[in-house]
Amino acid sequence: MARFDGRVAALTGAASGIGRATAIRLAAEGATVVGLDIDEAGLVGTAEAAGSMGSIVCDVADRAACHAAVEQVVADHGRLDVFGNIAGVARSQHVPDVTLEDWDQMVAVNVSGVFWCAQAAIPHLLKVDGVLINIASNAGLMGQAYTVPYCATKGAVVNMTRALAMEYAKTGLRVNAIAPGAVQTPLVDNYQLPEEIDFSLMAGYIGLREMSRPADIAAFFAFLASDEARQVHGAILSIDAGLTAG
Ligand SMILES: NC(=O)c1ccc[n+]([C@@H]2O[C@H](COP(=O)([O-])OP(=O)(O)OC[C@H]3O[C@@H](n4cnc5c(N)ncnc54)[C@H](O)[C@@H]3O)[C@@H](O)[C@H]2O)c1
Repeated sequence: MARFDGRVAALTGAASGIGRATAIRLAAEGATVVGLDIDEAGLVGTAEAAGSMGSIVCDVADRAACHAAVEQVVADHGRLDVFGNIAGVARSQHVPDVTLEDWDQMVAVNVSGVFWCAQAAIPHLLKVDGVLINIASNAGLMGQAYTVPYCATKGAVVNMTRALAMEYAKTGLRVNAIAPGAVQTPLVDNYQLPEEIDFSLMAGYIGLREMSRPADIAAFFAFLASDEARQVHGAILSIDAGLTAG
């Protein structure tokens, strides 16, 4: 029997990168997976790669859209066992160049989106002793030059995860975060460093080992979402090849 037979998982950010790899992995282990993303074509690509996946076009910055998407998952599949907050946006800039739009978008997707989806999913997860997993980042655990808004949002995800874990400590719900280091995804491939940067400020977060692959994060997500991780609650788990160790 596969680890997720009979279980329903909903994943934001499933159209690309870590979200796509996680959808493929959970589907391969028996889950019914539904992807939530703004990128409709990307969701189609993930569904093809995963063999089967339900898709809902959803902007996680929109509270009503998050609630409607979660209700649709439960209406279609009868339950919700695993919710993954994986969608995220990142941008590298000098502090003076950050516009109101840049700041608002990063907060809306990376922080508000995680909270609205958690708020919508938790009542259903509580019914089945389910699992909520948020994707934070090494950027939420250390200060990185030229990514101050992104670091601020991922730091918020780290402590939101802990606070949710405490609020639901006496239930069967498990809430955890994964903090990846650099992962080879379109987010990194399209990453543009600003001009006139001091590379010595970036040495501490480049790392000494190779970048992770999306499948590395997906494999850990699958473990964390499974019953094998039943005692893991309120944890921020680094998958960063040692980046934040020293
Ligand atoms: N790639 C890395 O090096 C790395 C490292 C640490 C953490 N992370 C985090 O991992 C998560 C996944 O990133 P990735 O590298 O797979 O990036 P990616 O760009 O490949 O995927 C991000 C997905 O989020 C979706 N998305 C963006 N805005 C959205 C919105 N408003 N509503 C719904 N979906 C939206 C995109 O369409 C895309 O499918 C993000 O939270 C990111 O911050 C990535």
